[in-house]
Amino acid sequence: MCGIIGYTGHRPAVPIVIEGLKRLEYRGYDSSGVAFIQNRSLLSIRAEGKLEMLEQKLAKSDPYLATTGMGHTRWATHGAPNEQNAHPHQDQTGRLALVHNGIIENYQSLKQDLKQEGVIFQSETDTEVLVQLISHLMKRDELGLPEAISRTLQQVEGAYALAVISADHPDELWAARNSSPLLLGVGTGENFVASDIPAFLASTREVVFLDDHELVCIRPDSWRVYSGHTLEPVDKAPQHVDWDVQSAQKSGHKHFMIKEILEQPGVIRDCLAGRVDRDRGRVVLKELETLAVPARLHIVACGTSFHAGLWAKYILEQWSGLAVQVDIASEFRYRDPIVLPEDLVIVISQSGETADTLAGLRIAREKGVPVLGICNVLGSAVARESDLVLYTQAGPEISVASTKAMCSQMVLLVLLALYWGQESGRLKSASLSRALQEMEGLPERLEKALPALRETAGFLAQTYSAARSFFYLGRGSNYPLALEGALKLKEISYIHAEGYAAGEMKHGPIALIDANLPTFALITENDLLPKLRSNLQEVQARGGPVIGLTSSALDVGAEDRWEIPRAWGVLDAFFMLPALQLFAYEMAVYLGKDVDQPRNLAKSVTVE
Ligand code: M6R
Repeated sequence: MCGIIGYTGHRPAVPIVIEGLKRLEYRGYDSSGVAFIQNRSLLSIRAEGKLEMLEQKLAKSDPYLATTGMGHTRWATHGAPNEQNAHPHQDQTGRLALVHNGIIENYQSLKQDLKQEGVIFQSETDTEVLVQLISHLMKRDELGLPEAISRTLQQVEGAYALAVISADHPDELWAARNSSPLLLGVGTGENFVASDIPAFLASTREVVFLDDHELVCIRPDSWRVYSGHTLEPVDKAPQHVDWDVQSAQKSGHKHFMIKEILEQPGVIRDCLAGRVDRDRGRVVLKELETLAVPARLHIVACGTSFHAGLWAKYILEQWSGLAVQVDIASEFRYRDPIVLPEDLVIVISQSGETADTLAGLRIAREKGVPVLGICNVLGSAVARESDLVLYTQAGPEISVASTKAMCSQMVLLVLLALYWGQESGRLKSASLSRALQEMEGLPERLEKALPALRETAGFLAQTYSAARSFFYLGRGSNYPLALEGALKLKEISYIHAEGYAAGEMKHGPIALIDANLPTFALITENDLLPKLRSNLQEVQARGGPVIGLTSSALDVGAEDRWEIPRAWGVLDAFFMLPALQLFAYEMAVYLGKDVDQPRNLAKSVTVE
């Protein structure tokens, strides 16, 4: 939920740390801070609010020449988002500083014990307990820093990724993880730790993925990973990641969100690459070669990833003939789901670190059911803990509102539906070839369509900008897209929106309809169209204006008609989805909202 970056090397640390924090700000943005060691003293500067507040503070001082430092950008869990609670936190001596991402569940009792020993706390955070305990153990038990970190971590319960620096070891930074992401970036004459790859991508693409309960020490010319429990060295090798720096920057766009929406043609292309055998008209998913066609599927995810799963239910059932259950992860984890060893649980997560989704994954594994993880972030917890992984290959998604990730998840889910249809012999080869041909044609068609989609989205956003509430209606596989359209509008424009199955409206929500409540209708030409038309007439009969987002040439009698390119059956979702994203985006821009960092949100939800 928070972002961490640590650096030690031959260059001034503070600007590198600030640049890293800019790449991590999507993880939390209510306060931030840096700590660094200069002339054997530990300096810490923190600020409430966005990172620019910290930059303004730093700009008031002479440039800092420290070559070891670390930074943190926070999404508050314990204690108000103010300067006092901002990280880094320091121990009583002011010689140690620590940044942390995660939640220390037993911090109250640890804090109580330390208070009894005379430790005075400065903040309301759970994090401060960590640095005070490390310092206390060093003093009381005469331990070295790594021994004290190790002993501390054995006493804490909960999730953490943390980094520690000490004024007594100016060229050294220690870091550890358990259930929260932390990576090591290996450079030349410099090394990094960070919550996510983009933080150090401008300097290195050599990454070491740390495992839970590992501790790492970085120095300018060396790094070493240890067991957090025994301090025994652990052998690790860096892996090369081929993300480019551009992919983590706005590249001339006003916001990451619009950049990521416009990247979707390329995302579809990358996601299909190597997974379609054109000559044989078949789907090739090497990762699944050892897996028999499952008896049933259970999809578990949150937010936008949940919507991708719900959308896929329609095609998975139709093409592969498998029974599919889709659950919101926070519900799945607390009921007693019936999942059997011959089933497959599919967890979908862009970040691969969503707490509820991970809990769902672990429950499935405890029950002896294989788990297929669909995720975007390399080496994330979902990727490590799943039995099988399919990466969406969408590149870093920085905007808090998820866009291209959903598109890439949908591509993979289409491939899965076709793959199991092909493997079970249910899907005729003509249909399979047709679907694959359509999929392969999508990137070019979408590329061409996006400018016009954006223009209409802008026009409609202005037209309806006074509305305080919207309905999004769809039937069949358009229903999950309606949910997603409503979610996008809510999260970045703060306009209330409800996504509904069109046929369900008359069971209550229709009472809300009046001239001030526009309805976004998602219209595909299929057997359900006459029924959807009736639902829209019911809305219009009560004075509600309808915006018809349609891939059909037929007149649906909407007050505003927004025609999008037609694709084969459900695949018109690959035009509908960007249209909905663009409408939400243009609305938020028109209303002057903070598009990439909407209030109260953070990109990865690593807490319950
Ligand atoms: O990283 P994940 O896909 O697991 O994230 C799930 C949700 O938190 C995420 O999709 C969230 O709903 C987005 N802000 C939606 O735009």
